Amino acid sequence: GKGIAVFTSGGDSQGMNAAVRAVVRMGIYLGCKVYFIREGYQGMVDGGDNIVEANWSSVSCIIHKGGTIIGSARCKDFRERAGRLKAAKNLVDNGITNLVVIGGDGSLTGADLFRQEWSSLLDELLKNNQITTEQREKYKSLQIAGLVGSIDNDFCGTDMTIGTDSALHRIIEAIDAIVSTAYSHQRTFIMEVMGRHCGYLALVAALTGEADYVFIPEEPEENWQKTLCDKLAQERNSGQRLNIIIVSEGAIDRNGDPITAEQVKKVVVDNLHQDTRITVLGHVQRGGNPSAFDRILGCRMGAEAVMALMEADENTEPCVISLDGNQAVRVPLMECVKQTKAVAQAMADKQWEKAVSLRGKS
Ligand code: F6P
Repeated sequence: GKGIAVFTSGGDSQGMNAAVRAVVRMGIYLGCKVYFIREGYQGMVDGGDNIVEANWSSVSCIIHKGGTIIGSARCKDFRERAGRLKAAKNLVDNGITNLVVIGGDGSLTGADLFRQEWSSLLDELLKNNQITTEQREKYKSLQIAGLVGSIDNDFCGTDMTIGTDSALHRIIEAIDAIVSTAYSHQRTFIMEVMGRHCGYLALVAALTGEADYVFIPEEPEENWQKTLCDKLAQERNSGQRLNIIIVSEGAIDRNGDPITAEQVKKVVVDNLHQDTRITVLGHVQRGGNPSAFDRILGCRMGAEAVMALMEADENTEPCVISLDGNQAVRVPLMECVKQTKAVAQAMADKQWEKAVSLRGKS
């Protein structure tokens, strides 16, 4: 059977373990040898104990857990050819020519570059007598399948990324908790949520947590100070005892400058004299047990990734497993990465509508 390795890279997210489990079990079921690569690309570069064969029971009791049991890292060495050369040697030594990479767009782009370079890396290893001619021939092509693990839901080509739903559960629990104390004291709370440059978490949290106002990077407003104060005052005048304002960590104004929770607080206090507090949710959003949705998403995507690799040969374009409606489907990896980068560019160019339309359904 084929040698498949699975690794998680970049920021962790809830549901990654479900995906790792599905890759291991589907791989074994289909007769493959499945390996864990621990600590992301760093483990691939360092080799040794970081690359270990998995068995059916090594993924028992992990579907319930947040984070990633095989560790994750941001790796400088893999950005250099010398690091990738070491990684290639470690994969050949273990008979691995199929990779399932679970991570964000940076990690997936790195995997594609590695795949494109694979042949020249093997040539170099052969020249240095680090692999044999037989190994050069036997392991001549590398196949990859990507899964997007991120709480941000910022990747083009999939409706949901693994972890987003669980992060929303954490955020909603926090909003509900804040609402009860805010109600008692007639306070205004400003809650900062994660999402990097993507406002998805903030927007959905605001809609489902009955917030009065939300700041997201994709829709910077002219004169937000006045609109905000008018809205808060209107809610209080109609009898509401509290206000909730959600600020995405990437929120910006029309000049592209950050809007921070502190700034928003100052505007509220100076203009409305409301008793105002800030709560920054931080990494709580990335922790805790995965939701049922993220467990199933990880399972389906992991299983589909293995099937894609089973069918792939050297002429197959690398794919990312995406959720389209309720279906796990394969989409071309590099097109999604290209589109995701185009969104970032449109945001940098302050073309927010364009960014939203490029981002598509997600
Ligand atoms: O991409 C996931 C994320 O949690 C973002 O929402 C956030 O901006 C970033 O990672 C935080 O990174 P770190 O965990 O390195 O502080």
